[in-house]
Amino acid sequence: MLVILIGVLRLGVSANSESITRHYKFNIVTRLCVSKDIVTVNGHYPGPTIRAREGDTLFIKVTNHVEHNVTIHWHGLRQLRTGWSDGPAYITQCPIQPGKTYTYRFTITGQEGTLWWHAHISWLRATLHGAIIIYPRRGLPYPFPHPDAEVPIILGEWWNADVEQLVAEANITGRAPDISDAFTINGLPGALYNCSQEDSIFRLPVTAGKTYLLRIVNAALNNELFFSVANHILTVVAIDATYTKPYKTDILMLAPGQTTDVLLTTDQPWGAYYMATQAYFSAAGMPFDNTTATAIMEYQNSPLTYTDEPIMPYLPAFNDSQTANDFSANLRSLENAKVPLDVDRDLFLTVGLALKHCPLEKPCNGFQGQRLKATFNNISFVRPQTALLQAYYYGNNGVYTPDFPDKPALEFDYTGQGLPMSFWQAQQGTKITVLPFNSNVQIVLQNTNIIGTENHPIHLHGYNFYIVGRGIGNYDSIQDPCKFNLVDPPERNTVAVPAGGWAAIRFKADNPGVWFMHCHLEVHTSWGLAAALLVENGFGPLERLEPPPYDLPQC
Ligand code: C2O
Repeated sequence: MLVILIGVLRLGVSANSESITRHYKFNIVTRLCVSKDIVTVNGHYPGPTIRAREGDTLFIKVTNHVEHNVTIHWHGLRQLRTGWSDGPAYITQCPIQPGKTYTYRFTITGQEGTLWWHAHISWLRATLHGAIIIYPRRGLPYPFPHPDAEVPIILGEWWNADVEQLVAEANITGRAPDISDAFTINGLPGALYNCSQEDSIFRLPVTAGKTYLLRIVNAALNNELFFSVANHILTVVAIDATYTKPYKTDILMLAPGQTTDVLLTTDQPWGAYYMATQAYFSAAGMPFDNTTATAIMEYQNSPLTYTDEPIMPYLPAFNDSQTANDFSANLRSLENAKVPLDVDRDLFLTVGLALKHCPLEKPCNGFQGQRLKATFNNISFVRPQTALLQAYYYGNNGVYTPDFPDKPALEFDYTGQGLPMSFWQAQQGTKITVLPFNSNVQIVLQNTNIIGTENHPIHLHGYNFYIVGRGIGNYDSIQDPCKFNLVDPPERNTVAVPAGGWAAIRFKADNPGVWFMHCHLEVHTSWGLAAALLVENGFGPLERLEPPPYDLPQC
């Protein structure tokens, strides 16, 4: 089913200096992957790893050689004042059309660790993605013992069918697109699939007594993933390119969009150990990909003998929300954090599924003869025909309305049973929230039990935020803030909102631009679980959005 794709990687990295400019060329091309064509960057799945240092400026020239419109998003990179290079289609840019080129330009400021890049249009990110590794400035150490080696581990999701066709069909029927056929580790599904062969397993040779830094990315489309390495303790040292207090565990949970850097010491008897990943799936009664991807970590150069069959790690049950939530709850930022202590703008957003009636002449059958939707505050986001950021810069012209509600129209028992059917009907619109420059923002994300509860990984572009609180059930605006962690909460760009629960995030709105906020389960973004925050310019020259680049694609 899967093979390693052969292609030419063209990278140009300029010479050593304190902070440098790095040039990359991304050619979006098609590769045949045994039974189907996939869209790739430079012929690779996953695509090339970008390596840079904090302070570097990147120029990435993307040329589109395929029939699809394409954009690339640098997930988690803050893009200070450079929203034009953020990448979400119809939010910060019009797509790069077939045959066209656009150069993304941005500087990495104050971020170290692992991030990733991916296509940000339709579901093309299924095969268009890769890691971004940000090292400290030259001569500066990591805040943990220097590892002997570093390994990117990219968790992906694979369909045997053509993904874009699947999405197009689901668009007509209003149903959920078919579930995936496999998960992958660095592009390979591993040993446990029917068609698995020797060359469908990613192998990591290791030496005994060394420490490895695994830079793990969940690049899957629709699944939170558990990850474990048999018999080895993992020490979490960074998440979403922010350092954490070292946290030892044998199970990780990564929501789509999230990254986790762990140290692994090869302190076990000589042998072969599986690393394995499978879904954490919290939507009761819904179909999901219940397969397991594996890779093999093999000790090298040892005098001992070992048995051939690698040792398999224990992975939690697919619906083990307790383990998933506990993992998130145990993460702390390394240093005391600069959490906004008072809040200028307090948003309360419900997060959940919804339905929409179909017109008689275009019947659909997502659920109860209706179309599946997903919403913040019961509003399903309608993608505009032109980019929001351009519309804002040139004076809007009715592309969006600045009236996204700060709270739901109706207060109700959000996670209660048997919510009336009238609550299931989604409204639609291209609504955004306007935030003054430097305002302190709190957003409480409250999952609902409309159709069913489910974990939602909510991602905000242009920012990191502090996850100051989370809980199960309905958020209590009097009691819950007393328990917030305002000292060392984890700092991330994607928060896994617990199934049937809530999460509270805080940040300072110090990056002007229009920033997409959406569920990183791609199927939910397709159903409209998205909105945008417009952060106004400040007064100083370094507090304003830069002018658009000359080659910004036009719609
Ligand atoms: Cu990783 Cu809006 O995306």
